[in-house]
Amino acid sequence: MGDVRATVGGKGPERQAVTPTWAAARSATSTSGCPPALGPSPVRERAHRSFPKEIEHFDIDRIVKAYGAAARRAREGGLDGIEIAAMAGHLIDQFWSPRTNHRTDEFGGTLENRLRFGHMVLEEVRKEVGDDFVVGMRVPGDEGAAGGLTPADCVGIATAMARTGKLDFLSVIYGSGNTDRELADVIPVYGRPLGAHLPVAAAIRKEVGIPVFHAARIADLPTARHAIDGGYADMVGMTRAHIADPHIVAKLLAGQEERIRPCVGATYCASRVETFCLHNPATGREAVIPQLVSPAPTTKRVVVVGGGPAGLEAARVCAARGHHVALLEAADRLGGQMIPAARTPRHAEKAGIIHWLAQETKHLGVTVRLNCLAELLSALAVVQFQDDLALQHEAVVDGRRRVHTVGLQWLVSLTDRLRDTLATASPGERGSTTCHSAVEQVLGHALAACAVHAGQARGHIQSLRLKAQ
Ligand SMILES: Cc1cc2nc3c(=O)[nH]c(=O)nc-3n(C[C@H](O)[C@H](O)[C@H](O)COP(=O)(O)O)c2cc1C
Ligand code: SF4
Repeated sequence: MGDVRATVGGKGPERQAVTPTWAAARSATSTSGCPPALGPSPVRERAHRSFPKEIEHFDIDRIVKAYGAAARRAREGGLDGIEIAAMAGHLIDQFWSPRTNHRTDEFGGTLENRLRFGHMVLEEVRKEVGDDFVVGMRVPGDEGAAGGLTPADCVGIATAMARTGKLDFLSVIYGSGNTDRELADVIPVYGRPLGAHLPVAAAIRKEVGIPVFHAARIADLPTARHAIDGGYADMVGMTRAHIADPHIVAKLLAGQEERIRPCVGATYCASRVETFCLHNPATGREAVIPQLVSPAPTTKRVVVVGGGPAGLEAARVCAARGHHVALLEAADRLGGQMIPAARTPRHAEKAGIIHWLAQETKHLGVTVRLNCLAELLSALAVVQFQDDLALQHEAVVDGRRRVHTVGLQWLVSLTDRLRDTLATASPGERGSTTCHSAVEQVLGHALAACAVHAGQARGHIQSLRLKAQ
């Protein structure tokens, strides 16, 4: 059999595995374009609302073969291994669980009968992929629901599967997928303890004698270390942690653990078809927003208005591109709407978004000005009294993408025009430019004064006429 530690945990850059499941199982929706949903018994699944057809013997034969064919394709496609999904309401564990298996034939009733289908699948898969390919199985350690598989049941099932000698590893979860409530045990959200189900994995690890993986709110490296050092699991999955920051391992290897973008458990990533992340806007949009920020061809000076998550992210990316960035925030602290959003204890982890962004912007050298309302008057004040800031910043990003943050946007466009006018003027020459609003007229005077004062202009502005509207 394959060496699971070398393959799944190896250092090579191309270690990949995939999870074969059975998408037409009871947990399919009737509108998803799949064949009709099937189950060991016609028990409706509340989460997906399907009424499954009871699997007949000819169904079992073709489905078992389909598992094997899928595994073979995975191998032929160059993958290193597979994990067979037998948890959270997939077909194999539907046979295992008394909640969903009411059969009276050789696939129902006793544990031995309920295990039969899973054994058939495993045998077919191993036959198709051979012994030198990693095959694991994802199993429940406790379904955590009335009438479902108990911890003792799960230890028995896991032990039976491991004893076949056909598995390289088991991946243990807690929960089932029958309802959204139960699925929330499998993918626990913020407010739920970190690594809460580790003892469930440990109970199985103690018995099975093959490596055990576990995933569920192992959101950061300290929790991962605790899981491994404490003997709860041989390897941990960090699914959402990698959705929030796909470069966890690279940062760890580079000695930059403190720069890992933390997953805050909001589970926006699992709330829709696309895997988007509440914290990381690049996730799921890599084609247009790369995860790794590359340097800009030319360096600019950027003012970001607003120190909420969007403004901070804009400042972070601009700074990472090499621009000189100043961020203006009206309040006395960073965070914007995240401050009230993270106020209750259950939601407190969301504050991690702001902590990380504040830390990153600091690391990247962003100048942060708190208590700085970027409306007209403050913009004017910036122009008049802080010419270093006003005249040297040539671009503005509005974190909320709202036009009415403004004073600064007008300021910028006017700055550009004034700079062009002034740059081409001879010393002492009088010039003029046109303003599009009374606001620009006021700002223009201030700018001109500052420009001359700062020695950036060779001429000076004589008049700023208000363009007829
Ligand atoms: C967007 C998303 C998609 C997932 N898809 C699968 C899947 O196809 N198969 C599976 O076994 N688990 C799937 N999971 C569950 C994860 O494998 C994992 O068990 C769960 O997210 C808890 O681990 P975490 O706290 O590290 O995210 C998915 C989770 C998320 C967030
Ligand atoms: S949306 Fe992002 S931060 Fe929230 S749980 Fe998913 S990966 Fe973590």
